[in-house]
Amino acid sequence: MYHPALYTPITDILGCQFPILCAGMGGVARYQLAASVSNAGGFGCIGMVREQPEFIRKEVNLYRSISNKPFAINLIPAATEARLLAMQIAECIALKINYMVFFWDVDKEIVKQCRDNGIQVIYQVGSKRDAVLALEAGVDALIVQGVEAGGHVRGETSLFGLLPEICAFSSVPIIASGGITTGEGMVAAFALGAQAISCGTLFLATEESNAHYFHKEKIVAAEASNTVLCYNFYRNWPMPAAVRVLKNDITESINHPYKSHLNNPIGEQDGAPIYPFSTDSPLDGAVGDIASMALYCGQGCGSVKHIKTAATVINDLMQEADRYLNRF
Ligand SMILES: Cc1cc2nc3c(=O)[nH]c(=O)nc-3n(C[C@H](O)[C@H](O)[C@H](O)COP(=O)(O)O)c2cc1C
Repeated sequence: MYHPALYTPITDILGCQFPILCAGMGGVARYQLAASVSNAGGFGCIGMVREQPEFIRKEVNLYRSISNKPFAINLIPAATEARLLAMQIAECIALKINYMVFFWDVDKEIVKQCRDNGIQVIYQVGSKRDAVLALEAGVDALIVQGVEAGGHVRGETSLFGLLPEICAFSSVPIIASGGITTGEGMVAAFALGAQAISCGTLFLATEESNAHYFHKEKIVAAEASNTVLCYNFYRNWPMPAAVRVLKNDITESINHPYKSHLNNPIGEQDGAPIYPFSTDSPLDGAVGDIASMALYCGQGCGSVKHIKTAATVINDLMQEADRYLNRF
């Protein structure tokens, strides 16, 4: 039994033991990672942005073959072609998915469709404006993402600037996201009104994540100042969007030689070419110039010292938070 402050009401809504979510990460958070997180008492999320319905079905069936715990499917409506998005949602309804996590522009119609079909909706937002829109749409919980976050970054405000502002008016529970990699960070987010945390970078660097080993090792070696918020990785994404990545030759050179060879692949993932400046991060099995790809990473990386199992990550977070809360 941990400190009572670590058992927050949202764990009842999510049906998990501990207030720790694994962020939906396209390509990286597949069924193995999501199930490992859920089986260890956290809440797993399968990142299925722009995946075909057949693949979603396959991942969900594989998840259910190794876990009977609740989990979410993560989609990004604004980054998905309308026809595919409609098919993805229909597939999730058919699969009787209980929770969806959405990100980027708030899509009220999709929220309504999910809720009408008994799905609980969690929206990740990066501003007060989007939080208001998500609440108007009727979401069940919000993830507040700070600018410290790895991957695509929606807003411009630090987590600790935004969190109390949104907590002040939110009628639904809040989950904090961006730069949290320790139990102490979790307690700090709770002190500002969050009931749970959602971590990406921390779970990317686990044995079960589908990220390329090079990416995991780079995170373990990095500190906050090695990350940068930039617009250098934009291909294969429908709108200009900021991403937080590890600095590399792409982010550090204004006139990178790849700019003159945009149509020459720099690598391959599962038989498909990877082009320079692509938003696709390298996954297990990728080959080529991995170091020049999008190596997403949040500012909490300095505390990620080892590649662990997801269960060890959750155990360590809970113990660190418990130790801090019981320090006197
Ligand atoms: C590798 C990677 C991929 C991501 N892909 C997605 C995604 O597909 N959908 C999504 O909603 N958020 C995605 N995110 C953002 C996360 O939801 C979350 O906001 C972020 O990881 C939190 O910051 P942290 O990495 O510092 O923990 C991604 C983050 C990372 C690190």
